[in-house]
Amino acid sequence: MRTLYINIKELLQVREENINKVSGKNMKVLPTIKNAYLLIEDDIIKDFGATEDAPKETIDKVIDASGKIILPSWCDSHTHLVYAGNREQEFVDRINGLTYEEIANKGGGILNSAKTLQETSEEDLYEQSKKRLDTIIKSGTGAIEIKSGYGLTAEAELKMLKVIERLKQNYPIAIKSTFLGAHAVPKEYKTDKDAYVKKIIEEILPQVANAKLAEYIDVFCEDGYFSVADMEAILKAADLFDLKPKVHVNQFNAIGGIKAAVANNALSVDHLEVMKDEDIEALKNTDTMPVGLPLCSYFLSIPYAPARKMIDSGLPFAIATDYNPGSSPSGNMNLVVATACIKMRITPEEAINAATINGAYAMGLSDTHGSITKGKKANLIITKEIPSYGYLPYDFGNSNIEEVVLDGITVS
Ligand code: NIG
Ligand code: FE
Repeated sequence: MRTLYINIKELLQVREENINKVSGKNMKVLPTIKNAYLLIEDDIIKDFGATEDAPKETIDKVIDASGKIILPSWCDSHTHLVYAGNREQEFVDRINGLTYEEIANKGGGILNSAKTLQETSEEDLYEQSKKRLDTIIKSGTGAIEIKSGYGLTAEAELKMLKVIERLKQNYPIAIKSTFLGAHAVPKEYKTDKDAYVKKIIEEILPQVANAKLAEYIDVFCEDGYFSVADMEAILKAADLFDLKPKVHVNQFNAIGGIKAAVANNALSVDHLEVMKDEDIEALKNTDTMPVGLPLCSYFLSIPYAPARKMIDSGLPFAIATDYNPGSSPSGNMNLVVATACIKMRITPEEAINAATINGAYAMGLSDTHGSITKGKKANLIITKEIPSYGYLPYDFGNSNIEEVVLDGITVS
């Protein structure tokens, strides 16, 4: 099946050569073609160029995209989309003055979600998660990473990862799974965190890895959660199973997690709301992608990752939703792009690079996703008729998406 879009007002994130990630210096450049055509064959981008050079032979389907912009689907490299219930009450508690930390110390937060998830059947968890996946696909996400971490027992962590596996099998969207057993210390281990770290390393991780239920390893490296030493021990154990790190670091405190993550070949370091100069230095000239989560900062009213400073220091940068019940109950990448422009002061070009090619890199998918490149997956967003691509973040909170294509097929 061949589909040809012609008269596209502007085709974004066009790359002749596949690249792995956009460096800080060229994040400002968003390569585009005006008045373009795009040819899809089955699930693959076959060709593109100026409309006048569009193929003249008979094509199964020709679509006039006058006035519309086409860009690669969003690549959301950090989510906790599989969870049970919600934490609306904690949202209200925070409005009434409690902090995220105070709520967690009372047994709320991650432990609250873990209790709910442990009591939820796999079937019910699948049904709840599927609804969210359907919604984010409609909002233009074409590749996503999903973490475990609300189970905190072998049984419940495996339940989460099996649900992720089922979503992978039943949906056309690319899904990467991450084992986050070290998300919080369960109540039973409150006075003996080391025993829980040992349990992760010796009991849960081998089961997860042997069942091939995860591709990445994550740890919440933070005061009150897991120390740098805990993280290092878990990453080293996971390395034996070839699970690469993608870790939660520097959300509330800079405790040295970035340097340790880079030393353990992390694919990405995520959150980064609190950054010391030495953290930025540690990321220079490495293969580790810094990932900012602007909706978490928005929802919790905490600082935003210093994206401007990081990009100006020559670092690449990716953005993701952090979709989860506690700190970002939204999986909308359009809002992420707008919030990154508005609150992190990054330009629409930088934000679109951050949400496509760099997001793809941060989940090991940049060979197949994240740009309009021949041979990559035909995962696309076709906008309504809009003045320019900068209008997408400018017109924040409104949907300017007309059509979503996954694997060459229109899904919404
Ligand atoms: O990325 N920071 C750690 N984990 C999640 C939030 C967890 C929660 O509150 O449920 C995050 O923000
Ligand atoms: Fe997270």
